[in-house]
Amino acid sequence: ENAALLKAIIENAIDGIITINSHGIIESINPAACNLFQYSPGEVIGKNVSVLMPPPDKELHDGYINRYQNTGKAHIIGFGREVKGLKKDGSVFPFRLGVSEVQFSGRKIYTGFIHDLTREKEAEERLKDYA
Ligand code: HEM
Repeated sequence: ENAALLKAIIENAIDGIITINSHGIIESINPAACNLFQYSPGEVIGKNVSVLMPPPDKELHDGYINRYQNTGKAHIIGFGREVKGLKKDGSVFPFRLGVSEVQFSGRKIYTGFIHDLTREKEAEERLKDYA
């Protein structure tokens, strides 16, 4: 069945996938995102996605979403961006964030795609040491 196939794809994706509602509240999180951020689904579903980011974005993220909803001007949707995530243990890591907007059964949700850049950034830093 199609829904079961989609679920299997999301559950086994290499990249993290998180969905939030129009208020920034986490509605779903796949295993790859759980591993990256070190949370179980039950610890973050129902919480604001801002728990997964360091300052200053943590304090500003509700405003980012509101600004987008009021102006229609996107800064990440359609472009992607490199941002910092906050793990449960307090450590910060870089990742590529893509966000898409989905109209789902009459309401708006956002899907975030999370591609860890920790290893790439470390390699970049090592290369700089040679320069
Ligand atoms: C906007 C940071 C996760 C949904 C933004 C902006 C930043 C940001 C910097 C744009 C601010 C601006 O230039 O005005 C972060 C960080 C995250 C994170 C650091 C780390 C966890 C997510 C996730 C989702 C999401 C997982 C969706 C599931 C949105 C939406 C907007 C936004 C809907 C407004 C639309 C837009 O500007 O294109 N976020 N974000 N964010 N973010 Fe996040």
